[in-house]
Amino acid sequence: MARLIAVSIDCRNEEVRRTFEDMVSRRLHYLIAKGQGTGAVDMLLLELDEFRPQHTFDRVRQLLSSAPDLEIFLTASRMDSQLLLEAFRVGVKEFLPQPLTRQDVEPALARFEARFAGKTSGLELQAGKVIAVIGVRGGVGTSTVATNLAVSVQQARHQEPVALIDLDIHGGDLGLFLDVPASQGLTHLTKDISRLDETILRSTLVRHPSGLQFLASGCDAYDDFMFEPGSMMRVMSLLRSIHRHVFIDCGHVLDPSVREVLDSADQIILVTTLSLPVIRRTKRLLELLAAAHYPSSKITVVVNRYEKDQKDLVAETETLLGVHMAGLIPNDYESASEAINHGKPLTVMASRTPIAQWYLRGVGQLIGDHAEGAAVSFKGQAKSLSFLGRCFSSVGMEVGRKPSAV
Ligand SMILES: Nc1ncnc2c1ncn2[C@@H]1O[C@H](COP(=O)(O)OP(=O)(O)OP(=O)(O)O)[C@@H](O)[C@H]1O
Ligand SMILES: [Mg+2]
Repeated sequence: MARLIAVSIDCRNEEVRRTFEDMVSRRLHYLIAKGQGTGAVDMLLLELDEFRPQHTFDRVRQLLSSAPDLEIFLTASRMDSQLLLEAFRVGVKEFLPQPLTRQDVEPALARFEARFAGKTSGLELQAGKVIAVIGVRGGVGTSTVATNLAVSVQQARHQEPVALIDLDIHGGDLGLFLDVPASQGLTHLTKDISRLDETILRSTLVRHPSGLQFLASGCDAYDDFMFEPGSMMRVMSLLRSIHRHVFIDCGHVLDPSVREVLDSADQIILVTTLSLPVIRRTKRLLELLAAAHYPSSKITVVVNRYEKDQKDLVAETETLLGVHMAGLIPNDYESASEAINHGKPLTVMASRTPIAQWYLRGVGQLIGDHAEGAAVSFKGQAKSLSFLGRCFSSVGMEVGRKPSAV
């Protein structure tokens, strides 16, 4: 998992600030937090007040007492050995003399990274699973799938914290699907990413009666909105630290924030249907994901609106795309629409229908036995050339074992 390191800089000397920013941004996985905030920040570069050093040391003590995991780098143009000793005693981790040089900064960052990796490896073992749900096209049922998978997991595992996030900034309406009021959402959390912490996150999440925690996008469909680069990684990392499962409705547009979520996700569920234009889009999206070097084990394809008489079409599509369809969600427009119009999940609104049963029974295999059963297995070239086959060729990877669809 790519966990970003958030860095804040509190420095009057502009030259020092710029040099440090430049050196940090050349390394991977760093995010420079804007403003002076230290909430949810991993490292702070702090300039010594050379006229009132005790003032700086008091500040260090205060910061570390409220955020013990924060690492403070101190910088100054002059420093005597007595002050240096005192700085380390109050908890400063590194000292960087001014002017900053690569020879001083890079080894200090490398030491910090080693300590950081040690601290986070234990946490990441317990970190929750991020499951990104993305549609190959608008209207294929992405929001229905994301919502009902999340609710089904929550219903099956009452005690486990589960979250559902609406990242469809082009018209997300999951609040309506669940009938939960959500005036604030991702846009609120990312306004000042440097201040984002667990308290702010928890106060923005809205609880659904099933126990599911919901986070709206906060966007109006007609806003021309973009999240700051890096902010989605930060939000995901915080979300997974307090939830066992985090489902994200990514909509169907591969914009930069969706790409960040796909990067940090443990599993990507592609929602498709069995119509020719949609199959063609599925092929294209699979190609893009393969080109972005996502491992095939991370990608799962599910067919929505599946009809019983489409068995042969599924087999043919699998061969053409070179992937296995891990889930076949029954077509039931009436139940699906009624559930949306009543703001209720399918498992509550129409629990006995085959579509609701699919969610209740299929979700475990789809997300749980992912590596074994549900992941994409890229398969070989099409054998026969039907109408579908003549329309386009396979994504073209080697044949894998074919697990059965849910
Ligand atoms: N399994 C299904 N069978 C029949 N209809 C379905 C099924 N799943 C979803 N639908 C219907 O498809 C329509 C679109 O669903 P949904 O809003 O979930 O799609 P979407 O891909 O999120 O759309 P958008 O691109 O607008 O965000 C809805 O009317 C919904 O009721
Ligand atoms: Mg949607």
